[in-house]
Amino acid sequence: MKYLRAINYIIKYSFLLFLKNIFKIFFKSHNLNKKELFILDELEKNGYYFGTNEDLNDLKIKSDWKQESEELCKLLDIQHKNQKIDQNKKGSINIMLNEIPDNIITQLYTFALNESFIKIIENYLNLKLLFRGVAIKKDLIDGREIETRKWHIDGEDNRIIKIIFYLNSVDKNGGPFTCIPKKKFLNQKIRKDKNGRIENETIKEYFKDNEIIKFIGDIKNFIIVDTCSVLHKGELPITNNRYITFFCYNSIIPTQPEYCKNLNPSFYNKFKGKFKRKITPIA
Ligand SMILES: [Fe+2]
Repeated sequence: MKYLRAINYIIKYSFLLFLKNIFKIFFKSHNLNKKELFILDELEKNGYYFGTNEDLNDLKIKSDWKQESEELCKLLDIQHKNQKIDQNKKGSINIMLNEIPDNIITQLYTFALNESFIKIIENYLNLKLLFRGVAIKKDLIDGREIETRKWHIDGEDNRIIKIIFYLNSVDKNGGPFTCIPKKKFLNQKIRKDKNGRIENETIKEYFKDNEIIKFIGDIKNFIIVDTCSVLHKGELPITNNRYITFFCYNSIIPTQPEYCKNLNPSFYNKFKGKFKRKITPIA
């Protein structure tokens, strides 16, 4: 049974890889302006790009949703208060915002699917993209250094993109997103556990402190990152809970589609036309 499952997986994976390569041949890359090209080059070289409000202005990207960041934190706090938390749960404990007000979700999707992001991301993926949606969550100070708080690489595909904003101010003790640029990364030689996670001590054997990049900031900053190409983790928050927003994109043919499902299925039918075609369809 185990072997059958493995064979089935290999056939499916090889087929998707083949299909992806065919689509790549026919993908016509976008013309980029100077700023867009610079961001794409950084993604190619390092696997991430640190952005600021100035970048969004240069790219003429409307980011009205950011004015709602306090409201989103409040909604997370309300949900946290009303949610029964199982301290005995083995996995990580965080609060995922289930109900996002209609006006805010429209602003979030308008932001996520602006022309510049689409052009940069599609050129990076060398394929058309699908926007999975937005995940808004509160990471609690719970002392659990497990799962995504351990070093790992995402497995959805060979390339994906996440755009990350903090909703509160995050310093080195607030659980910053931390990564190692892909040019420094020698994944195949690093010891991992059975879940693909890597211990901090192991990372220290391979990388100097100055090769480990921490994303410190607040709503005025963001990081665009390919979490399938860079080693990364969310540091364990020590002093403050972390409020965070992830915009998640993958190519139209991810090699692990079961991990690329729409994150906001209840909103899918609210969108129309060209805009809707860029959103991951619901099953
Ligand atoms: Fe990850």
